[in-house]
Amino acid sequence: AVRVKKTVIDHVRVASYAFAFDIDGVIVKGPETIPEAKEALKLLNGANEYNIKVPYIFVTNGGGRAEQARAEELSKRLDIEVTEDQVIQGHTPMRELVSVYNNVLVIGGVGDACRKVAEKYGFKNVFTPLDVMKWNPSVTPYHNLTEEELAVARDVDFSNTGIDAILVFADSRNWAADQQIILELLLSKSGFMGTVSDSFEEGPALYFAHSDFVWATNYNLSRYGMGALQVSIAALYREHTGKELQVTRFGKPQRGTFKFASKVLSQWRKDVLEEHVEELTTEEGTSDMEEQSPGDPLLNDPSQNMNRNSKPTLLATESESESDSDNEGLTVEKLSKLTLDLPPASTVYFVGDTPESDIRFANSHDESWYSILVKTGVYQEGSIPKYKPKHICENVLEAVKFAIEREH
Ligand code: G3P
Ligand code: MG
Repeated sequence: AVRVKKTVIDHVRVASYAFAFDIDGVIVKGPETIPEAKEALKLLNGANEYNIKVPYIFVTNGGGRAEQARAEELSKRLDIEVTEDQVIQGHTPMRELVSVYNNVLVIGGVGDACRKVAEKYGFKNVFTPLDVMKWNPSVTPYHNLTEEELAVARDVDFSNTGIDAILVFADSRNWAADQQIILELLLSKSGFMGTVSDSFEEGPALYFAHSDFVWATNYNLSRYGMGALQVSIAALYREHTGKELQVTRFGKPQRGTFKFASKVLSQWRKDVLEEHVEELTTEEGTSDMEEQSPGDPLLNDPSQNMNRNSKPTLLATESESESDSDNEGLTVEKLSKLTLDLPPASTVYFVGDTPESDIRFANSHDESWYSILVKTGVYQEGSIPKYKPKHICENVLEAVKFAIEREH
C-alpha cells in the first residue's frame, strides 16, 4: 500500500459547466439595467437550490473604457462583485498589437478615454482625432473642438508623425470628422496627414474592435454600431480608389476573440475554484489507492452527482516522501498547481441578443459552447434569427434557470 496523505477539500461546490454573457441587450440596455439580470447572476453566485457556484465571464463588443471601469459599472448595476478578469471588451485582445505598431491613431469613445485604455495596454505613441483637429482645425471644416476636447487634445505635428495603424476601439461620436481623418490617412503616403499616395496602398493598417451593424439601446429600435461605420468607410475608400478596403476585425464572432475568451474563462474558473475552497482538512492514513499524480483533481460534476445532497469534493492525493517535512497539507498554492490541469468546462452557456455576433460566435468555434438567444435586445420575437441558437429565452434569468435545470 502506498502511504498516502489524503487531503479532502469539503464543499468545493464549483460547477463543471460555465457561462459567458453578452452585455448590451442582455444585461443592460443603454443606461438601463435589464431587471432580470440581477437575480440571474445571483443564482450563478450560489443562490440556487443546488448550492453550487457557476463561473461566468462577460464577452462584449462594447468598449471605450478600461476593463476595470466596465467591471466596476457592472458591479454597481448588478449589486455583485465583478472583476476586470471577467470582462472582455471588443478591443481587449488588441493589446496583442502593442509590440507591432509604434504610432497608433485610436478612434471612438468620449474625449481621450480610448487613448488612456490604449496606453494602459502598453501602446507608446497614441494619438486621437482630437489631436489632429488641434494640429490643424481646417482638417475638419465643420467641427471646432469644444473646451473639453481641447483640454484632452495633445500638441502633435502630424506633418512629421506617420500613423502606422488606426485602431477603432469604440463607436465614433463624430462620424464626419473621424471618417474625414481616417480616409485621408488610408489614402496617404505612409500615414502622413496632408499627403496623397499614388497607389493608395501605403496607408496605415485598419483594425475594428467589432463589426456589429446595429446594437440594442433603450430606444425601441436598434442603433448603428461599428459595423455600420465600416460599411461607410469602405464605401468612401471604394469611391476614391475603386478598391476594396482591407480591414482586420476583432470582437464577436471572430475566432481570435473566441480563443481569447476561452483562455480568460479557463483562468477565471481556476480563480473561482481556488477562492471557493471553503475548508481544507488533512487526514493521515494509508490506502491501497494507486499513487495518483496530483494533477488530476476530480471536480464536482453534476452529471456524476446524482444525489443532490452528496457533498461533491475535490479529491487530491499526494504521496508523502519521507523527507517531506512541511506537513501543511494541500495549501491553496498547491491547489493552484492542481487546478493547472482543470478539465475544460463541460458546457459553456453563451447568452446573447444578436444572432450575427453572439449566436454565430457561440455556434462556430467549439461544440461545448451552447448558444442561448434572448428577446431583450436586437433580436425581436417573430423574426427568424440569421444564426440558429440552441435555445431561445425571454431574458437572461430564464436562460440561467433553463441551463441550471438542464445540468441537474
Ligand atoms: O458597441 C457595443 C455594441 O455594439 C454591442 O455590445 O455587449 O451587445 O456585444 P454587446
Ligand atoms: Mg448584445
